Amino acid sequence: MAAGRCSTRMRTNLRFRSTVLPTAAALAEEAAQRFARAASGAIRSHGDFVVALSGGTTPRSLYARLAEPPYRSTVPWSEVAVLWSDERCVPPDDAASNYRMARDLLLDHVPIPTANVHRIRGEDDPAAAARAYEQTLRRVLRTPQGPPRDAPGARVDLVLLGLGDDGHTASLFPGAPAVTDGDPWVVAHYVAAVSQWRVTLTPAIINAATEILFLVSGAGRAAIVRRVLEGPRQPDELPAQRIAPADGRVHWLLDEAAARDLGRASP
Ligand code: 6PG
Repeated sequence: MAAGRCSTRMRTNLRFRSTVLPTAAALAEEAAQRFARAASGAIRSHGDFVVALSGGTTPRSLYARLAEPPYRSTVPWSEVAVLWSDERCVPPDDAASNYRMARDLLLDHVPIPTANVHRIRGEDDPAAAARAYEQTLRRVLRTPQGPPRDAPGARVDLVLLGLGDDGHTASLFPGAPAVTDGDPWVVAHYVAAVSQWRVTLTPAIINAATEILFLVSGAGRAAIVRRVLEGPRQPDELPAQRIAPADGRVHWLLDEAAARDLGRASP
């Protein structure tokens, strides 16, 4: 990890690690290495690797990188199950579809069985799509009912997340009804901030994951990165602060521009 600065900070009962990479391209490379490591670890321990992909723009270069050598041939794609952290309620061929983005940049270029690709049906009624996706998650995680189980193969091995200007992550937006443990794993809601219905995984299932990786890039995110990681705890206003797994690992991959304000004295 020579390329990045790695730091550990205790903050508000939330322990996180962050790595700062010099560029967005270095961030994508670091994320690809961590994806491959998580995949081989999970497959060694329980035979498959369940990953939830994020949407937005930042993961695009990661998906493109995973479709290239060496990852295209070294990741055992036939043992990989793909989920999404959230989806925009649009058809799968829509330019705004998170599924389409990952399909075009990654899934169409690697030998992953179609049956292993579990997309959120953005074209369906949002509430119905959320209910159906919870059933899909429960099937993939072998947990037909009850809370997430802490057992090999019953947890999402890696959840990819981004961070929006307003502190949202996945489609958990400020002001949206707080979803806490014991609640549904997947919810649908209308997000006025983006004038769109969204379907999203909830903290109940995200926080049960083995590993969570935030990918955040660009100077435009420096202020919100600082608020979320170093500011007071305000999970209603900053839903990314709700991502605090009991015993999973959270890691923030930041490029220099996004990490610019970290550690600075209050203005
Ligand atoms: C989405 C995402 C969303 C995203 C952030 C950051 O569907 O839009 O899942 O949570 O990660 O908005 O987006 P960028 O990567 O484009 O900055």
